[in-house]
Amino acid sequence: MNDPITRLPGRRFLHSPGPTPLPDAVVHAMSVQPMDLGDPRVDANIAACEEGLRQLLQTRDADVFLYASNGHGVWEAVIVNLAAPGEAVLVPGTGHFSESWAEQTEALGRRVVRTPWREGWPIDVAALEQALRDDRGHAIKAVFAVHTDTASSATSEIAELRRALDAAAHPALLVVDVVASLGAVPFAMDALGVDVAVGASQKGLMCPPGVGFVAVNSAAFEVAKRNPAPRFYWDWVRRKSDLSYRKFCGTPPQNLLFGLQAALSLLFAEGLPAVWQRHSQLARAVHGAVDGWREGGALDFFVQDPASRSHSVTTVTVGPGIDVEALRAVARDRFQVAIAGGLGPLAGRAFRIGHLGDCNPAMILGAIGGVEAALLTLGVAAGTGAMRRAVMSLAQG
Ligand SMILES: Cc1ncc(COP(=O)(O)O)c(C=O)c1O
Repeated sequence: MNDPITRLPGRRFLHSPGPTPLPDAVVHAMSVQPMDLGDPRVDANIAACEEGLRQLLQTRDADVFLYASNGHGVWEAVIVNLAAPGEAVLVPGTGHFSESWAEQTEALGRRVVRTPWREGWPIDVAALEQALRDDRGHAIKAVFAVHTDTASSATSEIAELRRALDAAAHPALLVVDVVASLGAVPFAMDALGVDVAVGASQKGLMCPPGVGFVAVNSAAFEVAKRNPAPRFYWDWVRRKSDLSYRKFCGTPPQNLLFGLQAALSLLFAEGLPAVWQRHSQLARAVHGAVDGWREGGALDFFVQDPASRSHSVTTVTVGPGIDVEALRAVARDRFQVAIAGGLGPLAGRAFRIGHLGDCNPAMILGAIGGVEAALLTLGVAAGTGAMRRAVMSLAQG
């Protein structure tokens, strides 16, 4: 038996940008026997999840619809509820995840207007505004924007997208994917003028994969009501009900929802400003480490503008000849630090360190140390000051 997990004691550090580690309280909360659907604990749990998500998304009135699904599922919910086949949506380029959402939209028979992805940069807001101005007939029904593209690790300013829509006087709905940003950075849905927010359980929400959710304001709900496109499982109109069986279009994923309720309680007990501050501090430590490594010449940040670097994940590009998959394997198997690879156009060109969710300074230093040990093992030219910079950054708070 040469499975490295069984040979090495201690915990393997999970630093993919989702799934992320589970707090013990979440694991314990899920460790319950399933209940009959009339058990009052079922409805109370669902109500707590809906209300907790509203609080986290900073919305008063939006309806929250929860699904037994991953992120792709809730992408599909948005597509089929907000646009009929043949109708158009605008997807501003952020990288792999905007393109995946766009392709899914096209696969479902909707038209997609794209603004170009600028590698290493957030959404091109000027291009977005121009595309909206060019759409004089208002054929575009919605803008589908990814807040943090987990592949590029760039975060875009949602307020700027809202300003672009308003400046162009365009009535399209603003739909934002907060899958990788929620719980790591503030997101005030109502104040930002966002019509629909789309999220999933396995990243900043510190739960296993398997719960997707949307928060839908009244304007977006009205569009869904008028939309004749055939749909059933994803349909918001069908799900707007007091009955849990209707809300979930069937049996709710009970144990996952108990985990979600516990995770939300942890976030509120810590306090959202403290949660955001912790993510900012951990991100700065990782950025400090990358600043150290890049002095060796082989590694660099993918995101050029420090202000656009995500607080959830950092994408590190590697020079020619560096085998990212070998690096990941050594980091995972020898040093027990699991990191992610590059996705889409960045496959083979980058690795990614996740620093979101149930994460603290010791875990971040462990991750940086494990990655550095793997870099040294493979002879990658990395600067030597990375750990020192990370420690200094944490010490400064
Ligand atoms: C920003 C973003 N949106 C959507 C998705 C898709 O989520 P899932 O893999 O759960 O389908 C991901 C997955 O990592 C993501 O990072």
